[in-house]
Amino acid sequence: MLRVDKYISNATDLSRSEVKRMIKYGEVTVDDEPVTNPGQKVSGSEDICIEGSAISMPTNRYFMLNKPAGVVSATKDNNNSTALDLIYEHRSAELQIAGRLDIDTTGLLLVTDDGQWNHRLTSPRSDCQKIYQVKLGVPISPDYQEKLANGVWLEGEKHPCLPATMEVIDDQHVLLSIAEGKYHQVKRMFAALGNHVEALHRTQVGGIVLDEDLEPGDYRPLTEAEVASIHE
Ligand code: URA
Repeated sequence: MLRVDKYISNATDLSRSEVKRMIKYGEVTVDDEPVTNPGQKVSGSEDICIEGSAISMPTNRYFMLNKPAGVVSATKDNNNSTALDLIYEHRSAELQIAGRLDIDTTGLLLVTDDGQWNHRLTSPRSDCQKIYQVKLGVPISPDYQEKLANGVWLEGEKHPCLPATMEVIDDQHVLLSIAEGKYHQVKRMFAALGNHVEALHRTQVGGIVLDEDLEPGDYRPLTEAEVASIHE
């Protein structure tokens, strides 16, 4: 059981003092009875309304953003706009980015306020596949597939990468599928193969595929099936 003023302030953007003021003006009802005491206890199963509109305790939120270039995958940045600046939602301070992209990388960026879900997606032990469309600076060589399948060794790393798969579109465009998320991983993988990445676009994370209807900078909530596709 929770105090009704605390319950409402947890469930909305309203502060406790704003809720108390609303209670004083008779704007808050519990099961159709005006609340007079902000300390009245509620369980959440009641019909709690402000000015006749029902409120409920929010559940976790999950979004996919088609990240444009020039936007950083951070909650705050002094010089650039951030991915979270593009998400217009209540309680946006609670949102976090699940799996960063570089400032020049575009495509599927996941945003949530569910820390456990974020962890499942991004922990080093997660084997969630990410798929990138990669534009390369010079044509690929025939040995890339095998080297990627064996695990490329990135500069400065103690262990080779996990096996990766590459689908060739043409000699300078490929789809790369990787299970890890090391710092600048795709760029460093192709650097290790003697190439360089000119453009990078993420299309898929686990079972979640970037919605083709989303223009760069647009976002939408994930479906229940998309959320559930990321599991232990
Ligand atoms: N690998 C990179 O090099 N950059 C990204 O943004 C994502 C994966």
